[in-house]
Amino acid sequence: MLISAIVAISKNNVIGRDGHLPWHLSADLKRFKAITTGHSIILGRKNYDDIGRPLPNRTNYVLTRNANFEAPGCTVCNSLAQAVESAQSAGESECFIIGGAAVYREAMPLVKKMYVTRVESDVDGDVFFPEWGEGWRKVSEESFPADEKNDFPTVFEVWERD
Ligand SMILES: NC(=O)c1ccc[n+]([C@@H]2O[C@H](COP(=O)([O-])OP(=O)(O)OC[C@H]3O[C@@H](n4cnc5c(N)ncnc54)[C@H](OP(=O)(O)O)[C@@H]3O)[C@@H](O)[C@H]2O)c1
Repeated sequence: MLISAIVAISKNNVIGRDGHLPWHLSADLKRFKAITTGHSIILGRKNYDDIGRPLPNRTNYVLTRNANFEAPGCTVCNSLAQAVESAQSAGESECFIIGGAAVYREAMPLVKKMYVTRVESDVDGDVFFPEWGEGWRKVSEESFPADEKNDFPTVFEVWERD
């Protein structure tokens, strides 16, 4: 099973502010949906609280250390390893780490593919993307302008490593 991460990152490495995404990027949300639909997604409890519901047509694994946490329509896991093993045993081909920062940080050593939306601006925020680790090569990039539905210009990049 391939373990991938998907994230939008500002020039100053911000990914979140006050528990939310610090931008509106309609094209990015559409791309996120197209890439992750039909697969498993692994997310932290704070990211789940922000989204507020299971994302449809995906197996949602929500990580929390709270043994009593309930997330209707999701599989609640108490460790990253438990979520990864569940996805693997269900026959998943590609599982997506979808954040936030706490989950990206722990999962990065396992991640072999990154779908990165570069938000082409410095942005105020309080949550940052962690270190990537070694061995990454960019395999594609595509630029998109800002418009009425997209706060900033973006570059969509795909990165891989062995
Ligand atoms: N730009 C992007 O692409 C992007 C993507 C996703 C999220 N975000 C942003 O990132 C921010 C949230 O990130 P965050 O780092 O604050 O929170 P987070 O990673 O979403 O959630 C952290 C919580 O997840 C649980 N958790 C994490 N690792 C765990 C593990 N190994 N085992 C069990 N539970 C674990 C814990 O929940 P409990 O406290 O319940 O134990 C922890 O408090 C928001 O602002 C969000 O909008 C941005």
